[in-house]
Amino acid sequence: MSAKIIGIGTALPEKIVTNHDLSNLMDTNDEWITSRTGIKQRHFVTNQNTSDLATIAAKQAISDAKLSPQDIDVIIVCTFTPDNFTPSVASMVQKNLGLTHNMMAFDVNGACSGFLIGLEIALGLLNTHKNCLLIGAEVISKMLDFTDRSTAILFGDGAGAVVLTADKSREFNIINRAYPDIDSVLYANGINGDNEKQTIKMNGSEVFRFAVKALSEGIQAMDYESCDLIIPHQANSRIISNVSRSLKIPIEKFYMNLDQVGNTSAASIVIALKQAITEGKLKPKDKVLCVGFGAGLTMGSALFEL
Ligand code: ACO
Repeated sequence: MSAKIIGIGTALPEKIVTNHDLSNLMDTNDEWITSRTGIKQRHFVTNQNTSDLATIAAKQAISDAKLSPQDIDVIIVCTFTPDNFTPSVASMVQKNLGLTHNMMAFDVNGACSGFLIGLEIALGLLNTHKNCLLIGAEVISKMLDFTDRSTAILFGDGAGAVVLTADKSREFNIINRAYPDIDSVLYANGINGDNEKQTIKMNGSEVFRFAVKALSEGIQAMDYESCDLIIPHQANSRIISNVSRSLKIPIEKFYMNLDQVGNTSAASIVIALKQAITEGKLKPKDKVLCVGFGAGLTMGSALFEL
């Protein structure tokens, strides 16, 4: 599949919540969170929803691509924290961008692998559509149970967007896999079963084990030695250093910004990609390997040239 990322944008809410701030809400501390996860702070919304963050990132990506919103033919929003069950966040972004021309807009729920699942769908759609706006956006803070200290410390809010266009000079290798979560190690409840507040629940050590295996598989499925930088899903620096050690890939080859933003699920890889480009760690024509894992359980991996 051939395509090129021609624009990229991100949105992070203004409010920064440090580990110290969390220690005022629950029995935790900066030392524990930093040493077990690598996370120092995350961003939480105050009065925004997922569609608001998605729209800001979308506008930035379209402007970076030097296009106008009218040039977009498809909007895909990857999220497990939509404003509403319907309309989709993608339809809300379409409305916010004032788009009324013939186009497609829909959401993908692939949790933390969402962006890579959306990417594979977008690449397929580029056979029949010109420009695809692919967004990962999450407001996870509204789903956190602040009495569950091992889960609440991990997540943050944010959005990242790319504009993709068909381009024969840029090859994408991409895979996505799904494995049933037989023991329900990672889930967020919906409308069935009970009237509990919707929260994320997780068996941390089982998810950790799955994450190391999934990231390793995803990296090994690609020609990883040819890439300039690996952008893994930003869940936990210990997961990433474990993979680095077991595959004997130097840790410097893995980009990490989770210390500043935490785990932003479907937005995580795009936010990291944009930051790596901004910091000059990636430049045009560099090869990047994006790899993620998430609820489902799922794993995705993509190797492509910028
Ligand atoms: N502060 C202080 N102590 C804590 C905290 C906290 N925030 N959380 C747990 N502890 C305590 C536990 O109660 C336990 O205490 P005990 O020994 O007295 O019982 C001790 O710390 C050790 O707890 P563990 O759960 O064994 O800690 P672990 O080293 O496994 O780290 C963690 C937990 C960080 C959750 C880790 O398992 C992890 O990162 N797992 C992967 C999670 C992940 O990546 N999730 C994202 C999923 S992606 C998606 O699709 C949504």
